[in-house]
Amino acid sequence: MKTISILVILALFAITTNAQEEKSYKTEKVWRVNFLNPALELELPTGNYSTFSAAFGIGYGGGYPDLTSGANGIIYIIAPFVDLQQKFCFIPGQYITIKKELDGLEIRRAYSICSSKESNAIRIGVKAVERGTFSVFATTELKVGDVLEVSPPEGRFILIPNTENHKNYLAFAAGSGITPVLSMIKSVLESESKSNFVLVYGNKSPDEAMFKKEIDTLRSKYHDQFSVYYTYTKANEEDALFGRIDKSTVNYVVKNKHKEVQFDDFFLCGPEEMINIVKADLLDKGFSKENIHLELFSSTVDVPKNEEKLEGETLVTILLDDEEISFSMDREKSILEATLAKGLDAPYSCQGGICSSCLAQIKDGKAVMDKNTILTDEEVEDGLILTCQAHPITDKITIDYDAV
Ligand code: FES
Repeated sequence: MKTISILVILALFAITTNAQEEKSYKTEKVWRVNFLNPALELELPTGNYSTFSAAFGIGYGGGYPDLTSGANGIIYIIAPFVDLQQKFCFIPGQYITIKKELDGLEIRRAYSICSSKESNAIRIGVKAVERGTFSVFATTELKVGDVLEVSPPEGRFILIPNTENHKNYLAFAAGSGITPVLSMIKSVLESESKSNFVLVYGNKSPDEAMFKKEIDTLRSKYHDQFSVYYTYTKANEEDALFGRIDKSTVNYVVKNKHKEVQFDDFFLCGPEEMINIVKADLLDKGFSKENIHLELFSSTVDVPKNEEKLEGETLVTILLDDEEISFSMDREKSILEATLAKGLDAPYSCQGGICSSCLAQIKDGKAVMDKNTILTDEEVEDGLILTCQAHPITDKITIDYDAV
């Protein structure tokens, strides 16, 4: 009883503090939040979050044993999002970007939300990466009371649940690529009672598989709707496949185990090589590319640089936050690089052509991208560019960040 009282007080404190934070940062694109209490998750209201402000909590992996599988580097950030509901409302599959200054350097990292839409909370899983900067900080030093800046959710790798849907979904995820897929799975199972979900999940070993316990719990609870195939590259397990996710895995699931199922949508998330193999095989099997949704979690495949000669300067005009600024830039630089160098607060996260945070639209002029695995041909024709990958090739160019 005593514990409950303390938690309530802390929750109220969180509401007050964050209401003030919201006010101070009203005009900023990135919202500052304060991690207050590891146990705030217990205080989340269900069904109606209009009475809660944005109280953020943080919990370490050990505190949420149902969500981890022994990966000591995982933490959870929990956010009931209410006064900020409009800003922090998310669609399963989206991510937030965390901004933090470490050793004098600004670090931005994108983390997919792994909670369901119905949970009234934003959660992310951070796994420590060897020689990682933010992930190591977050899993060793970050503590309750520290301040991080968190962007509102964004991203185009999404599944919009609908209670009327009667669909068959198939997802291929590897490593931490499971995070956005987990949000999709939970959201579908919680809101689409007539839909089915099949997950193929690749890891080195069961111990490395993030959220394995939670996935297994979902499989037991929704055994009529949810099937899982684990595959491991360094562990021979009785109830799992062996090896990387490749064509044979796709065949096994699509042509063997579920050959009677007509899949409607595919979600691929993980390393680029896996995504390319699975996508190509699904296309070979006659599935439409419009139904194959993908998000890279790492890029290992070398992409040839564009063939344009990037010489000379371009007069670039940037439309950002209702302001217009023009300057001259070296074409060898990316438009994002040049924009940030001018001190403008352009949105970005990965800077590697993976996340789409830096999306903008060309209003006038032309640009080429080094790498684009996100935008469709139609979107590129409409002038959309990933500014972290784009170089101007005309004497003048106008880029509109506000249009997207
Ligand atoms: S910043 Fe991620 S795609 Fe450009």
